[in-house]
Amino acid sequence: MKKLTAHKATAVAPANIAFIKYWGRADDVLTLPANDSISMNLSDCITTTTVSFEDQLEQDVFELYAQNGNRMDLRTDETERIFLQIDRIRDLAHLTTKTRITSKNSFPFGAGIASSASGFAALTLAATVAAGLNQSKQELSRLARLSGSGSACRSIPNGFVEWQAGTDSSSYARSLKSADWWNLYDVVAIVDDTKKTVSSQDGHGLALHVPYFQTRQQELPVRLKRVKEALQERDIHTLGEVVEEEMFSFMSVLQMSKPSLLYWSGKTIDVIQAIRRWRAEGLAVYATIDAGPNVHCLCERSAVDSVCNQLRTIGVSSFIVNHASEGAHIIMDHLF
Ligand code: DP6
Repeated sequence: MKKLTAHKATAVAPANIAFIKYWGRADDVLTLPANDSISMNLSDCITTTTVSFEDQLEQDVFELYAQNGNRMDLRTDETERIFLQIDRIRDLAHLTTKTRITSKNSFPFGAGIASSASGFAALTLAATVAAGLNQSKQELSRLARLSGSGSACRSIPNGFVEWQAGTDSSSYARSLKSADWWNLYDVVAIVDDTKKTVSSQDGHGLALHVPYFQTRQQELPVRLKRVKEALQERDIHTLGEVVEEEMFSFMSVLQMSKPSLLYWSGKTIDVIQAIRRWRAEGLAVYATIDAGPNVHCLCERSAVDSVCNQLRTIGVSSFIVNHASEGAHIIMDHLF
């Protein structure tokens, strides 16, 4: 085993919004999904992480800061997942040195805006570079997947991303289209920024016992194909229709889980209903939601101002405007 004298790297990674959701696993240990999924990286929901290998440390140290600079507390199992990911990277690099890790989110933590996806993608890239490894995008995506936050593998490649489920440990996500392919926006309407009570980790397990889950698996190939066609054609209406259908399919699995998972709040439904009204009035905007209450309003750039104004009229004053963005990348400004 090697030792490494203070070697530091900082990475930025985006959260991503799933057009077709990863929900349910074929293999828990390898984090293999039950189905392929497609997502878009979010420009303004990012995690920045600095990892430093330091000889004098006796144990790994992790700190997470919220967008307002406040220090966030993690549950023990959440911290364990982070240190397990560091162990994987240490093993790859044949190192024993402990790490100091600081992370900062630009958006609410644990409220269904895939903070673990951006978090594990940034951690994986920063830690591999700090450890002196030079991993390809494919290898990084695989490593990020193994963190247990499967969707993190989609935050490594650029822009619009597909994770093909695969059947073995080689499963990874690749870019379908670069970020500049389409001026598609995701205005995240923040209706609730408190941390969710049931994690995705528990939800994946419950999903497999839902009878509708099997039907959903049969429906997905058509939806995946339609999303790819819509991306190719930059067709907001087709994309939006499929994405809303997918949201309700995903929601059905959540509701039919035992115990039933209800991430939506009354405000979530208000926003979905308002979106239907605005669409009837000619505004091309569509909704999708991950495992949380906040509504991702998908529209093209020309509609962003109208969507923000309309959200204000129904009392939503907090939102994050995202365009499609590049995946995880290294920056030179360290957090410490
Ligand atoms: C609903 O297991 O990747 O966002 O560990 O919370 O990031 P976290 O979740 P993960 O499941 C993601 C579930 C989803 C859908 C998706 O992003 O595909």
